[in-house]
Amino acid sequence: MNTIIRTVDADYPDPSVIAEAAEILQKGGLVAFPTETVYGLGGSGLNGDACKRIYEAKGRPSDNPLILHISQLSELRPIVREIPDASRKLAEAFWPGPLTMIFPKSENIPPEATGGLDTVAVRFPSHPVAMALIRAAGLPIAAPSANASGKPSPTRASHVAFDLEGRIDMILDGGPAEWGLESTIVDVSVTPPMILRPGAITKEMMERVVGEVQVDPAILEKPSADLRPKAPGMKYTHYSPKAEVYLVRGDLTAVQEKINALAAEEMAAGKKVGVLATEESRKGYHATTVLSAGSRNRLEEIGANLFKMLRKFDFLETDIVYAEVYPLEGEGMAIMNRLQKSAGYRYIEAEDGKEREEK
Ligand code: TXA
Ligand code: MG
Repeated sequence: MNTIIRTVDADYPDPSVIAEAAEILQKGGLVAFPTETVYGLGGSGLNGDACKRIYEAKGRPSDNPLILHISQLSELRPIVREIPDASRKLAEAFWPGPLTMIFPKSENIPPEATGGLDTVAVRFPSHPVAMALIRAAGLPIAAPSANASGKPSPTRASHVAFDLEGRIDMILDGGPAEWGLESTIVDVSVTPPMILRPGAITKEMMERVVGEVQVDPAILEKPSADLRPKAPGMKYTHYSPKAEVYLVRGDLTAVQEKINALAAEEMAAGKKVGVLATEESRKGYHATTVLSAGSRNRLEEIGANLFKMLRKFDFLETDIVYAEVYPLEGEGMAIMNRLQKSAGYRYIEAEDGKEREEK
C-alpha cells in the first residue's frame, strides 16, 4: 500500500487536505493524524472492518480496545448509554483536551472498537488538525496511538512513518505533538472516578473539579495475577525501545557515580550505553550517548520529550539505557508510569547497587 504523506499547518490546516483525509476515513481507510498528546491512527469508529484494519496495521492484540474521538459534545450522547454527573463536570473542565473517559457503551458501537467490552473510551481532542478531521469525517474516529504495537507512542509524523509506512492510507504531518504522553484515562462509570492511565490531566487537577478521584493501584506497580490493570492496554510491556532500560534511583551524585561505573564496564565489553538524563545532570555522565529529556524543573518538558528520546536510543542501536527517575506524583506520575513500563520495572539502587524488580 502506498501511504500518502501530507504536511498540514498545525493551527490552520488546509481544508482541502482535511477533506481528502476525511474521505479516506468515510470509506473505511486509515489516516494517522496529530493530536495534542501523541499521533493517533484513525479509522471510522462505526465501521467494524476499519477497526480491524487498525489492529492489523499496528499488530495490536484484538482485546485491547480503541478510544473514540469526537469533535463536539453533542457527539457523545449517541455513542454512550449514560452520561454520569462526574463526566459532565470533567468534560466542562478539561474537554477539548488530553482526557479520555470510560462510559457504558451504546449499541451503535461495533464490538471491534471496544475489544468486546460493554464500555467505551471517549476523548475530545483539542488539536486543530484532529478537530477539523473528525468534524469533516462526521464520524466518531477510533484512534489508538499510531505506533507499531509495543513501541513508544509517536510524537512526530516521522515516528509514524517509521513504524507504519506502507500499512496505512495517509499520514497528516502537523509537526510535533505538544504533550508527548498519551491522554489521562479516567473511568467515570465508577464512584469515585478511577484513573486507569496517568497523563497530562493529573489526579489533583480532577479532584479540584469532582472531589475524590482514585488511582488504579495496578498502574504504578508491576502488573501481576493479583494486580491486573483495568485498562486492558496497560498490562502489556509497552513503550519499550530495543535497549534494556534500567531506572536508577538515589541521590543525584550517587546516581551519576553508579551509572558511570556501570557504563564504563558495559562499554569495555563492547556495548553501546545510553543515559537518559536531564538538562541539570547531563554533564555529569560518561557513556556512548547521553541525552537530556529536558529540565527537572519543567516536568511537562520531560514528558513531551520522553518517547522521542527512547526512539532515538533505538535508532542509535543502543544496547543498554540507564534513566533517572522522577517523582511518582503530580505530573511525574505519567512520566514514571511510561518509564517503568519501558524498563520492565527494573530498578537499580544507586547507593547499594542491588537490582530490584518493583516500585
Ligand atoms: O492520547 C491518547 O489517548 C492517544 C491519542 C491518539 O488520542 N490514544 C491512545 O490510544 O493512547 P491507545 O489505544 O494507544 O490507548 C488506549 C488505552 C489502552 O490502554 C486501552 O486498553 C484503554 O485505553 N481503553 C480503551 N477502551 C477502554 C475501556 N472501555 N475500558 C478500559 N480501558 C480502555
Ligand atoms: Mg498506545
